[in-house]
Order: sequence, then C-alpha cells, then structure tokens
Amino acid sequence: MIEKKSGLAVFICAMALVFAVSALGQKNASQHKSGAAKNISCVTCHKTLGGELAKPVAEWTGSVHQQNGITCNMCHGGDPAATSMDKAMSKDHGFIGAPHGQAQFDACGKCHATEVAEYAKSIMGKAYLEGKGGPSCAKCHGAHHNAIPEVPQLCKSCHKDTTGFDQIDPMNVTEATVQMLSKMKIKLGEQKVAGTRPSVVPKIKEDLDPYVIGLIAFGGSIFVFILGYIIYLILEKRD
Ligand code: HEC
Ligand code: HEC
Ligand code: HEC
Ligand code: HEC
Ligand code: HEC
Repeated sequence: MIEKKSGLAVFICAMALVFAVSALGQKNASQHKSGAAKNISCVTCHKTLGGELAKPVAEWTGSVHQQNGITCNMCHGGDPAATSMDKAMSKDHGFIGAPHGQAQFDACGKCHATEVAEYAKSIMGKAYLEGKGGPSCAKCHGAHHNAIPEVPQLCKSCHKDTTGFDQIDPMNVTEATVQMLSKMKIKLGEQKVAGTRPSVVPKIKEDLDPYVIGLIAFGGSIFVFILGYIIYLILEKRD
C-alpha cells in the first residue's frame, strides 16, 4: 500500500516539474522576443497617456508586428531612444505623425513593397489615393493590430452587394476582376430563373492553429490524469 502511494507522489511531482519547466521556458521565449521592443520610449510614454494615445500600444502588443520586432518608429519615424517627447517625436529624426494617403503606402512599403505596388494600381488603391473613398491599408488590416480581415464581412461597410467577394484578391481588384464578378452574377441570375438553387454548401474553416491544438491536447491529458487519480482513490478506499 505504502509503495503504491509513494509511487503516485513521485508521479505527481514529476508532472508538476514538467509543467513548471515548460511554463518557464515559454515565458522566457516570449520575453526574449518582446523584451527589447517594450523598452523603447514610444511605448513607455504612450502606455501612460490613456485614451486614443495609449490604444496603439495595447493593440500593437501581441500583434504579428510586435512579435517580429516591428516597433512604433519603423512606421512613424522618430527616435525611440530619446525620452523627452519633443526629441522622440522630432521631424529631425524623421517623425511623420499618423501616416495617411501616399505617406501610409510609403510607411508600409518599406517592408511590404510588393503588396503596396499591387494595391496602388488596383481600382480601390487608386480610389484611396485620389480621395474617392477607397479603403486604406489600415482600414482593412488595422493600423496597430495588423491582421488578415474577414471577407466579405469587412467589405460590407462600403459594399451592398458582395457576391463573389470571397473568391477574389481584394488587394488586386482590376477591370478583369469586375468582369469576372459580373459574369458570376449573370450566372447566379440564370440559375435562379431556371429554378436550380445555387449551391450553398457551407465552408468549414480549418483555422485551429497548432498552438490551440497543443493546448487542447494538454488540457485533455490533465483531465485524463485527474480522472485516473479519482479512480485510484475510489479503488484504494474499496481495498
Ligand atoms: C514622453 C512622452 C512621449 C514619447 C517618448 C513619445 N510620444 Fe508620441 N505623443 C505623446 C503625446 C503627449 C502626444 C499627443 C500630443 C501631440 O500630438 O503632440 C503624442 C502623439 C503621437 C502621435 C500622434 C500624432 C498625430 O499627428 O496624430 C504619434 C503617431 C506618436 N505620438 C508616435 C510616437 C512615436 C513613434 C514615438 C517614439 C519614437 C513617440 N510617439 C514617443 C507623447 C510621447
Ligand atoms: C505597422 C505600422 C505601425 C506601427 C508599428 C505603429 N503604428 Fe501608429 N499608426 C499607423 C498608421 C497607419 C496610423 C494611421 C491610422 C489610421 O489612419 O487609421 C497610426 C496612427 C497612430 C496614432 C494616431 C491615433 C490613431 O490611433 O489613429 C498614434 C498615437 C500612434 N499611431 C501611435 C503608435 C505607437 C505608440 C506605436 C507603437 C506601440 C505605433 N503607433 C505603432 C501605423 C503604425
Ligand atoms: C519594418 C518592417 C515593417 C513595416 C514598416 C510594416 N510591416 Fe507588416 N509585417 C512585417 C513583418 C516582419 C511581418 C511578419 C512576417 C510576414 O508575414 O511577412 C509583417 C506582417 C504583416 C501582415 C500579415 C499579418 C498576418 O496575420 O499574417 C500584414 C497584414 C501587415 N504586415 C500589414 C502592414 C501594414 C498595413 C503596414 C503599414 C501600416 C505594415 N505592415 C508595415 C514588417 C513590417
Ligand atoms: C480591401 C481590403 C484590403 C486593403 C485595402 C489592403 N489589404 Fe492587404 N490583404 C487583404 C486581404 C483580404 C489579405 C489576405 C489575402 C489572401 O489571403 O490571399 C491581405 C493580405 C496582405 C498581406 C499578407 C500577404 C501574405 O501573403 O501573407 C500583407 C503584408 C498586406 N495585405 C499588406 C497590405 C498593405 C501594405 C496595404 C496597403 C497598401 C493593404 N494590404 C491593403 C485586404 C486588404
Ligand atoms: C472604405 C470603403 C471600402 C471598403 C471597406 C471596401 N471597398 Fe471595395 N471599393 C470601394 C470604392 C470607393 C470602390 C471604387 C468604386 C468605383 O469606382 O466604382 C471599390 C471598388 C471595389 C470593386 C470593384 C467595383 C465593384 O463595385 O464591384 C470590388 C470588386 C471591391 N471594391 C471589392 C472589395 C472587397 C473584396 C472588399 C473587402 C475585402 C472591399 N471592396 C472593401 C470602397 C471600399
């Protein structure tokens, strides 16, 4: 009996140790990634300002950009080593404020030249640069938590009819795209007239990333372990 109990105690200790070590490892890894970026003056000052001036920090934290070491000054310019506001945000250090129009394309284009060049010559990119209501990069991706937007949900804020929008590249809408969409609409119209319903098979998104799957697996193994322990206790009481 005693042997069984000490065996179990050793097992629990080992589990706890493995968990602690892996948690510590993860913490170190994330600190390593973001440690330097968090200490720049733009972040330390803006964090304390509150409201609209602090929101960029909250949104940027945990974003793809932050994880890749893309800091405030890489889009806005300025000197992230200077602690005074005037020096950090001085034009002499290339500070450009909040970039709009061509300035925004230039800011993103430093690292995403291909995407910017493509979008700039598309129908919507031109409509943005000419001030005719086209969406900016920030409108679709967010300025600070840059992510891939939901299509066509996002498009509905400007477009009433989004038929086929999930089958085109929104960053490269050209005359050819418009023709393709109108053909699609004609075809759908004909199908309706003929009485055959257009196929409405729902798409299942495969968007569980490996990290989430890992978490679920970990949770599952903990659950099985606890269940085993309870069964063990019940069996031991019966003895
Ligand atoms: C010591 C505090 C402080 C530091 C350091 C600081 N800021 Fe600011 N920032 C402010 C305040 C206060 C404002 C609002 C008043 C203003 O615009 O002059 C502001 C405004 C801004 C704006 C908005 C300007 C606009 O035109 O709307 C941007 C963008 C910005 N900061 C980026 C940065 C970046 C990038 C850095 C680092 C290189 C930085 N800030 C460093 C305090 C700071
Ligand atoms: C990937 C580029 C990028 C990075 C990195 C970035 N910004 Fe911005 N920021 C923008 C753009 C673009 C705008 C204009 C937003 C718009 O018009 O919708 C903006 C706008 C702002 C504004 C004006 C208010 C607002 O929200 O529109 C402030 C203040 C600001 N940024 C501060 C910061 C701070 C502080 C950081 C670092 C934590 C930062 N930004 C990092 C691109 C960036
Ligand atoms: C200093 C370099 C740099 C600048 C400036 C920059 N980015 Fe990025 N961006 C990156 C890196 C690095 C990644 C992550 C690696 C990758 O996917 O290429 C990234 C990723 C992205 C992604 C993919 C996000 C995802 O979830 O897959 C988008 C969207 C994006 N950036 C938009 C922008 C926009 C919009 C701007 C301008 C407001 C901008 N970036 C400015 C470097 C930059
Ligand atoms: C109308 C909305 C819209 C606008 C405006 C827009 N994008 Fe995108 N962008 C998207 C969508 C949707 C995707 C995902 C495309 C895909 O999965 O094929 C994307 C993808 C990207 C990616 C990731 C590419 C990759 O292969 O991972 C980057 C980087 C990016 N955009 C940057 C920008 C920049 C910079 C601008 C401004 C010049 C911009 N986008 C304007 C909707 C937009
Ligand atoms: C900020 C508003 C805005 C958003 C958001 C927006 N668009 Fe547009 N879009 C426009 C404007 C403005 C035009 C140019 C209209 C014109 O000149 O006929 C346009 C034109 C188009 C066209 C070609 C003409 C047409 O009307 O069919 C397509 C296709 C298109 N957008 C797709 C998209 C997709 C896909 C998204 C979402 C990922 C999107 N748009 C998000 C404003 C927007």
